[in-house]
Amino acid sequence: MKGTIVKSLEELVITKFGKDKWEKSLEDAGLERSTIFLPVGDVDDSQVLKVIEAVCKNLNISLAQAADAFGDYWVNVYSQKLYGLYYTKNKTAKDFFLDLDNIHLKMTKTMANAKPPRFDYEWKDDKTLIMHYKSHRGLIDFLVGLAKGVGKFYKEDIKVTKLGPTKIQINFP
Ligand code: HEM
Repeated sequence: MKGTIVKSLEELVITKFGKDKWEKSLEDAGLERSTIFLPVGDVDDSQVLKVIEAVCKNLNISLAQAADAFGDYWVNVYSQKLYGLYYTKNKTAKDFFLDLDNIHLKMTKTMANAKPPRFDYEWKDDKTLIMHYKSHRGLIDFLVGLAKGVGKFYKEDIKVTKLGPTKIQINFP
């Protein structure tokens, strides 16, 4: 997975919980405490999962709680600095979600080794969107957390529910 994801997790853990918690998590995941992640670099998927697991253990939180905190931080802080245009060009959460497959495809086109998640869209009714998640990584809890972060960014009271390992439901008000 691209280093930008781990970099964001690092920033979140260090600013909210301190450098020691981050370095301890790296250590527990079998990495050097001083490991540096570059946004365009590559990190083994299994390594990323180990770091996430170690963060959960060291902060004493569940995977779903970590995913919610990550989703909020990625959408509302980290990606605003690097990828803000994708948010300003979409005026509503709905428009943004419908652009998400395209965003991932486009932005990783020129990145070597990127395997972005892909999304299919299914409308159950005009206020209920099912997003089908296509990725070999199985990070559905992160999809839920990220989607909640999008609702917060657009100040919309959406409800996000996990329907299974490959789909979430988004209810728009
Ligand atoms: C402008 C905002 C965003 C950008 C630029 C972006 C870009 C990226 C990039 C570069 C990766 C790593 C891909 C790889 O290593 O192959 C990634 C992973 C991911 N993105 Fe985004 N993303 C954005 C917002 C979102 C949002 C809002 C969601 C969900 C609602 C989302 C869902 C995911 C998930 C679940 C992954 C983990 C990889 C996987 O499951 O396979 N992203 N994204």
